[in-house]
Amino acid sequence: MARDSAVAAAKKTNGKPGPKHNIEAVRQAYYERIAKHDMKPLWRVMDSIVTKEPVSRCAPMVWHFDDVKSLVMESGSLISAEEAKRRVLILENPALKGQSRATNTLFAGIQMILPGEVAPAHRHAAAAIRFVLDGEGAYTAVEGEKAFMSPGDFVITASWAPHDHGNTSKKPMLWLDVLDVPAVNFYEASFAEDFDAPTQETTRQDGDSLNFYGSGVLPDGTPSMNRTPVINYTYARTRPIVERMMHAGEIDKRHGARVRYANPVTGGSVLPTMGAWLAMLPKGFKGQPYRSTDGAIFACAEGQGSTNVDGEVLQWGPNDVFVVPPWKRYSHQAAKESVLFSISDRPAQQALGIWREGK
Ligand SMILES: [Fe+2]
Repeated sequence: MARDSAVAAAKKTNGKPGPKHNIEAVRQAYYERIAKHDMKPLWRVMDSIVTKEPVSRCAPMVWHFDDVKSLVMESGSLISAEEAKRRVLILENPALKGQSRATNTLFAGIQMILPGEVAPAHRHAAAAIRFVLDGEGAYTAVEGEKAFMSPGDFVITASWAPHDHGNTSKKPMLWLDVLDVPAVNFYEASFAEDFDAPTQETTRQDGDSLNFYGSGVLPDGTPSMNRTPVINYTYARTRPIVERMMHAGEIDKRHGARVRYANPVTGGSVLPTMGAWLAMLPKGFKGQPYRSTDGAIFACAEGQGSTNVDGEVLQWGPNDVFVVPPWKRYSHQAAKESVLFSISDRPAQQALGIWREGK
Protein backbone atom coordinates (compact mmCIF):
# COMPACT_ATOMS: atom_id res chain seq x y z
CA MET A 1 0.00 0.00 0.00
CA ALA A 2 1.41 3.41 -0.92
CA ARG A 3 1.94 5.87 1.95
CA ASP A 4 -0.83 8.22 0.75
CA SER A 5 -3.40 5.43 0.58
CA ALA A 6 -2.34 4.21 4.03
CA VAL A 7 -2.88 7.72 5.41
CA ALA A 8 -6.24 7.96 3.61
CA ALA A 9 -7.29 4.59 5.04
CA ALA A 10 -6.40 5.77 8.52
CA LYS A 11 -8.35 9.00 8.07
CA LYS A 12 -11.45 7.08 7.08
CA THR A 13 -11.55 5.34 10.48
CA ASN A 14 -14.28 6.69 12.71
CA GLY A 15 -14.62 6.35 16.45
CA LYS A 16 -11.88 4.90 18.65
CA PRO A 17 -9.01 4.49 18.51
CA GLY A 18 -8.59 7.95 16.95
CA PRO A 19 -6.98 8.92 13.67
CA LYS A 20 -3.67 9.82 15.27
CA HIS A 21 -3.46 6.47 16.96
CA ASN A 22 -4.45 4.81 13.71
CA ILE A 23 -1.88 6.58 11.56
CA GLU A 24 0.83 5.55 14.04
CA ALA A 25 -0.42 1.96 13.94
CA VAL A 26 -0.53 2.02 10.15
CA ARG A 27 2.95 3.50 9.99
CA GLN A 28 4.29 0.89 12.40
CA ALA A 29 2.75 -1.89 10.34
CA TYR A 30 4.30 -0.34 7.26
CA TYR A 31 7.75 -0.13 8.88
CA GLU A 32 7.52 -3.77 9.87
CA ARG A 33 6.47 -4.76 6.39
CA ILE A 34 9.28 -2.90 4.62
CA ALA A 35 11.79 -4.23 7.17
CA LYS A 36 11.12 -7.70 5.74
CA HIS A 37 12.49 -6.31 2.48
CA ASP A 38 15.58 -4.87 4.26
CA MET A 39 14.33 -1.31 3.94
CA LYS A 40 13.62 1.37 6.51
CA PRO A 41 12.36 4.97 6.54
CA LEU A 42 15.05 7.63 6.40
CA TRP A 43 12.79 10.11 8.23
CA ARG A 44 13.08 8.13 11.45
CA VAL A 45 16.92 8.21 11.50
CA MET A 46 17.77 11.37 9.55
CA ASP A 47 18.80 13.46 12.58
CA SER A 48 21.14 10.78 13.90
CA ILE A 49 22.94 10.05 10.62
CA VAL A 50 23.10 13.60 9.25
CA THR A 51 24.14 15.47 12.40
CA LYS A 52 24.36 19.25 12.50
CA GLU A 53 27.90 18.95 13.87
CA PRO A 54 30.39 16.10 14.19
CA VAL A 55 29.43 13.65 16.93
CA SER A 56 32.53 11.74 18.00
CA ARG A 57 32.28 8.38 19.69
CA CYS A 58 35.87 8.63 20.89
CA ALA A 59 36.88 10.12 24.25
CA PRO A 60 39.77 12.34 25.34
CA MET A 61 42.40 10.07 26.86
CA VAL A 62 45.99 10.17 28.09
CA TRP A 63 48.36 7.25 28.63
CA HIS A 64 51.19 8.13 31.00
CA PHE A 65 54.56 6.68 30.05
CA ASP A 66 55.43 5.61 33.61
CA ASP A 67 52.56 3.13 33.52
CA VAL A 68 52.94 2.27 29.85
CA LYS A 69 56.66 1.54 29.98
CA SER A 70 56.53 -0.87 32.92
CA LEU A 71 53.53 -2.72 31.44
CA VAL A 72 55.16 -2.96 28.03
CA MET A 73 58.46 -4.12 29.57
CA GLU A 74 56.54 -6.90 31.34
CA SER A 75 55.42 -8.24 27.94
CA GLY A 76 59.10 -8.85 27.10
CA SER A 77 59.17 -11.94 29.32
CA LEU A 78 55.81 -13.22 28.04
CA ILE A 79 56.42 -13.37 24.30
CA SER A 80 59.28 -12.73 21.88
CA ALA A 81 59.04 -10.12 19.13
CA GLU A 82 59.41 -12.94 16.58
CA GLU A 83 56.57 -15.04 18.01
CA ALA A 84 54.31 -12.01 18.43
CA LYS A 85 55.34 -10.78 14.95
CA ARG A 86 54.91 -7.35 16.51
CA ARG A 87 55.10 -7.03 20.28
CA VAL A 88 52.69 -4.15 20.65
CA LEU A 89 50.30 -3.08 23.36
CA ILE A 90 47.32 -1.37 21.77
CA LEU A 91 46.34 2.03 23.16
CA GLU A 92 42.61 1.48 22.97
CA ASN A 93 40.31 4.42 23.41
CA PRO A 94 38.12 3.64 26.45
CA ALA A 95 35.05 4.79 24.53
CA LEU A 96 35.86 2.38 21.68
CA LYS A 97 36.35 -0.81 23.70
CA GLY A 98 37.13 -3.93 21.72
CA GLN A 99 37.80 -1.95 18.56
CA SER A 100 41.62 -1.76 18.68
CA ARG A 101 41.73 1.93 17.92
CA ALA A 102 42.66 5.22 19.55
CA THR A 103 40.37 7.31 17.36
CA ASN A 104 37.70 6.23 14.96
CA THR A 105 40.21 6.13 12.10
CA LEU A 106 43.61 5.57 13.77
CA PHE A 107 45.22 2.64 15.52
CA ALA A 108 47.84 3.46 18.15
CA GLY A 109 50.13 1.11 20.03
CA ILE A 110 53.41 0.97 21.90
CA GLN A 111 55.89 -1.42 20.34
CA MET A 112 58.94 -2.80 22.10
CA ILE A 113 61.91 -4.60 20.69
CA LEU A 114 64.56 -6.03 22.98
CA PRO A 115 68.29 -6.26 22.27
CA GLY A 116 69.00 -8.97 19.70
CA GLU A 117 65.38 -9.35 18.63
CA VAL A 118 63.93 -9.17 15.14
CA ALA A 119 60.34 -8.30 14.25
CA PRO A 120 60.06 -10.23 10.97
CA ALA A 121 59.46 -8.72 7.53
CA HIS A 122 55.91 -8.28 6.36
CA ARG A 123 53.77 -5.79 4.51
CA HIS A 124 50.19 -4.60 4.60
CA ALA A 125 47.81 -2.19 2.95
CA ALA A 126 47.66 -0.07 6.10
CA ALA A 127 50.34 2.60 6.32
CA ALA A 128 52.28 3.13 9.53
CA ILE A 129 54.35 5.70 11.28
CA ARG A 130 56.64 5.28 14.26
CA PHE A 131 57.45 8.01 16.73
CA VAL A 132 60.37 6.88 18.85
CA LEU A 133 59.94 7.23 22.61
CA ASP A 134 62.73 5.40 24.39
CA GLY A 135 65.99 3.58 23.60
CA GLU A 136 68.61 4.11 20.98
CA GLY A 137 69.85 2.22 17.96
CA ALA A 138 67.10 -0.20 16.98
CA TYR A 139 66.25 -0.05 13.30
CA THR A 140 63.36 -0.16 10.89
CA ALA A 141 64.30 -1.59 7.50
CA VAL A 142 61.94 -0.34 4.83
CA GLU A 143 62.20 0.13 1.09
CA GLY A 144 65.85 -0.84 1.01
CA GLU A 145 66.96 1.51 3.80
CA LYS A 146 67.88 0.45 7.29
CA ALA A 147 66.93 3.45 9.40
CA PHE A 148 68.46 3.46 12.89
CA MET A 149 66.14 5.23 15.27
CA SER A 150 66.57 7.66 18.15
CA PRO A 151 63.99 9.28 20.44
CA GLY A 152 61.90 11.86 18.59
CA ASP A 153 62.53 10.30 15.17
CA PHE A 154 59.52 10.01 12.90
CA VAL A 155 59.70 6.95 10.65
CA ILE A 156 57.40 6.20 7.70
CA THR A 157 56.15 2.88 6.38
CA ALA A 158 53.91 3.52 3.39
CA SER A 159 51.10 1.24 2.27
CA TRP A 160 52.37 -2.16 1.06
CA ALA A 161 56.04 -1.35 1.84
CA PRO A 162 57.91 -4.41 3.20
CA HIS A 163 59.33 -3.65 6.64
CA ASP A 164 61.09 -5.34 9.51
CA HIS A 165 62.56 -4.15 12.77
CA GLY A 166 65.64 -5.22 14.69
CA ASN A 167 67.55 -4.16 17.74
CA THR A 168 71.33 -4.42 17.55
CA SER A 169 71.75 -2.13 20.56
CA LYS A 170 72.06 -3.11 24.20
CA LYS A 171 68.84 -1.40 25.31
CA PRO A 172 65.14 -2.06 24.75
CA MET A 173 63.52 0.33 22.33
CA LEU A 174 59.94 1.56 22.57
CA TRP A 175 58.07 3.56 20.03
CA LEU A 176 54.56 4.77 19.28
CA ASP A 177 53.03 3.03 16.27
CA VAL A 178 50.16 4.78 14.53
CA LEU A 179 48.43 3.07 11.61
CA ASP A 180 45.43 3.87 9.44
CA VAL A 181 44.09 0.33 10.03
CA PRO A 182 40.56 1.37 11.10
CA ALA A 183 40.23 3.57 8.00
CA VAL A 184 41.51 0.80 5.71
CA ASN A 185 39.12 -1.64 7.34
CA PHE A 186 36.25 0.83 7.01
CA TYR A 187 36.83 0.54 3.26
CA GLU A 188 37.28 -3.24 3.67
CA ALA A 189 40.52 -2.94 1.71
CA SER A 190 42.98 -4.78 3.97
CA PHE A 191 45.69 -7.00 2.50
CA ALA A 192 48.75 -8.36 4.31
CA GLU A 193 51.52 -10.87 3.76
CA ASP A 194 54.54 -12.28 5.56
CA PHE A 195 57.88 -13.00 3.94
CA ASP A 196 59.93 -16.18 4.20
CA ALA A 197 63.09 -14.34 5.24
CA PRO A 198 62.78 -12.51 8.56
CA THR A 199 64.85 -9.56 7.37
CA GLN A 200 65.04 -7.79 4.04
CA GLU A 201 68.10 -6.92 2.01
CA THR A 202 69.01 -3.27 2.31
CA THR A 203 70.80 -1.36 -0.41
CA ARG A 204 70.81 2.12 1.07
CA GLN A 205 72.71 3.54 3.99
CA ASP A 206 70.95 4.91 7.04
CA GLY A 207 69.78 8.44 6.25
CA ASP A 208 70.08 8.14 2.47
CA SER A 209 66.43 8.99 1.79
CA LEU A 210 66.47 12.06 4.06
CA ASN A 211 69.63 13.30 2.36
CA PHE A 212 68.47 12.49 -1.17
CA TYR A 213 65.00 14.00 -0.87
CA GLY A 214 64.98 16.22 2.19
CA SER A 215 67.80 18.62 1.41
CA GLY A 216 66.28 21.10 -1.04
CA VAL A 217 67.39 19.02 -4.02
CA LEU A 218 65.86 15.94 -5.62
CA PRO A 219 67.51 13.09 -7.48
CA ASP A 220 67.02 14.01 -11.13
CA GLY A 221 63.91 12.41 -12.57
CA THR A 222 62.19 11.87 -9.19
CA PRO A 223 58.53 11.19 -10.02
CA SER A 224 55.66 12.87 -8.21
CA MET A 225 54.25 10.56 -5.56
CA ASN A 226 51.38 10.66 -3.07
CA ARG A 227 53.62 9.75 -0.11
CA THR A 228 56.99 10.93 1.02
CA PRO A 229 60.15 9.13 -0.11
CA VAL A 230 61.84 10.07 3.19
CA ILE A 231 62.02 7.13 5.58
CA ASN A 232 63.19 8.86 8.76
CA TYR A 233 62.58 12.50 9.66
CA THR A 234 65.13 12.58 12.44
CA TYR A 235 64.58 14.56 15.62
CA ALA A 236 68.14 15.82 15.27
CA ARG A 237 67.06 17.63 12.07
CA THR A 238 63.51 18.68 12.97
CA ARG A 239 63.84 19.84 16.56
CA PRO A 240 66.29 22.66 15.80
CA ILE A 241 63.84 23.98 13.18
CA VAL A 242 60.94 24.40 15.63
CA GLU A 243 63.35 25.84 18.19
CA ARG A 244 64.59 28.36 15.63
CA MET A 245 60.99 29.24 14.72
CA MET A 246 60.18 29.79 18.38
CA HIS A 247 63.14 32.10 18.84
CA ALA A 248 62.16 33.95 15.65
CA GLY A 249 58.70 34.54 17.19
CA GLU A 250 56.91 32.37 14.64
CA ILE A 251 54.56 31.00 17.28
CA ASP A 252 51.00 30.16 16.32
CA LYS A 253 48.62 31.28 19.08
CA ARG A 254 46.95 27.87 19.07
CA HIS A 255 49.67 25.40 18.07
CA GLY A 256 52.96 27.00 19.11
CA ALA A 257 56.01 26.96 16.81
CA ARG A 258 54.84 24.13 14.61
CA VAL A 259 56.00 22.42 11.44
CA ARG A 260 54.13 19.98 9.27
CA TYR A 261 56.12 16.99 8.09
CA ALA A 262 55.98 17.30 4.30
CA ASN A 263 56.49 15.18 1.24
CA PRO A 264 59.50 17.05 -0.23
CA VAL A 265 58.52 16.16 -3.80
CA THR A 266 55.03 17.69 -3.72
CA GLY A 267 54.81 19.68 -0.48
CA GLY A 268 51.85 17.46 0.42
CA SER A 269 51.36 15.25 3.43
CA VAL A 270 53.78 12.45 4.29
CA LEU A 271 51.11 9.84 3.61
CA PRO A 272 47.79 10.15 1.76
CA THR A 273 45.90 8.96 4.84
CA MET A 274 47.86 10.52 7.71
CA GLY A 275 49.63 13.80 8.40
CA ALA A 276 52.03 14.69 11.21
CA TRP A 277 53.32 17.80 12.96
CA LEU A 278 55.98 18.79 15.48
CA ALA A 279 55.46 21.82 17.73
CA MET A 280 57.56 23.59 20.31
CA LEU A 281 55.61 25.41 23.01
CA PRO A 282 57.50 28.06 24.96
CA LYS A 283 57.47 27.83 28.76
CA GLY A 284 54.25 29.41 30.04
CA PHE A 285 52.46 29.01 26.67
CA LYS A 286 48.70 29.36 26.97
CA GLY A 287 47.24 28.29 23.66
CA GLN A 288 44.04 29.70 22.24
CA PRO A 289 41.24 27.19 21.68
CA TYR A 290 41.10 25.27 18.44
CA ARG A 291 39.10 22.46 16.94
CA SER A 292 39.05 20.56 13.68
CA THR A 293 37.30 17.56 12.25
CA ASP A 294 40.43 15.40 12.43
CA GLY A 295 40.87 13.70 15.77
CA ALA A 296 44.55 13.73 16.73
CA ILE A 297 47.00 11.57 18.63
CA PHE A 298 49.68 13.57 20.45
CA ALA A 299 52.96 12.40 21.95
CA CYS A 300 55.01 14.59 24.26
CA ALA A 301 58.66 14.45 23.20
CA GLU A 302 59.86 16.86 25.89
CA GLY A 303 58.52 19.10 28.61
CA GLN A 304 55.41 19.19 30.74
CA GLY A 305 52.00 20.71 30.38
CA SER A 306 48.33 20.07 29.94
CA THR A 307 45.68 20.13 27.25
CA ASN A 308 42.16 21.16 28.05
CA VAL A 309 39.77 19.18 25.87
CA ASP A 310 36.23 20.51 26.17
CA GLY A 311 36.71 21.08 29.91
CA GLU A 312 38.62 17.86 30.56
CA VAL A 313 42.26 18.49 31.48
CA LEU A 314 44.84 15.99 30.24
CA GLN A 315 48.17 16.37 32.06
CA TRP A 316 51.20 15.28 30.04
CA GLY A 317 54.94 14.83 30.40
CA PRO A 318 57.72 13.12 28.45
CA ASN A 319 56.53 10.21 26.27
CA ASP A 320 52.91 10.48 27.36
CA VAL A 321 50.42 9.89 24.55
CA PHE A 322 47.04 11.57 24.43
CA VAL A 323 43.98 11.74 22.19
CA VAL A 324 41.91 14.75 21.18
CA PRO A 325 38.66 13.60 19.53
CA PRO A 326 37.32 15.25 16.37
CA TRP A 327 35.67 18.67 16.74
CA LYS A 328 36.38 18.89 20.47
CA ARG A 329 37.65 22.34 21.36
CA TYR A 330 41.12 22.09 22.90
CA SER A 331 43.93 24.33 24.12
CA HIS A 332 47.48 23.55 25.21
CA GLN A 333 49.31 24.97 28.21
CA ALA A 334 53.03 24.41 28.77
CA ALA A 335 54.50 24.52 32.28
CA LYS A 336 57.95 23.98 30.76
CA GLU A 337 59.31 24.45 27.27
CA SER A 338 57.72 21.49 25.53
CA VAL A 339 57.73 19.59 22.26
CA LEU A 340 54.57 17.87 21.02
CA PHE A 341 54.35 15.47 18.11
CA SER A 342 50.91 14.93 16.62
CA ILE A 343 49.32 12.83 13.93
CA SER A 344 45.85 12.74 12.42
CA ASP A 345 43.79 11.71 9.40
CA ARG A 346 43.63 15.28 8.08
CA PRO A 347 45.06 14.50 4.60
CA ALA A 348 42.39 11.84 4.05
CA GLN A 349 39.62 14.24 5.07
CA GLN A 350 41.08 16.99 2.89
CA ALA A 351 41.24 14.64 -0.09
CA LEU A 352 37.56 13.90 0.46
CA GLY A 353 36.74 17.60 0.79
CA ILE A 354 35.21 17.27 4.28
CA TRP A 355 37.91 18.70 6.57
CA ARG A 356 36.99 21.75 8.63
CA GLU A 357 38.59 23.74 11.42
CA GLY A 358 37.26 26.31 13.83
CA LYS A 359 37.74 28.11 17.12
FE1 LIG B 1 53.81 -3.84 10.04
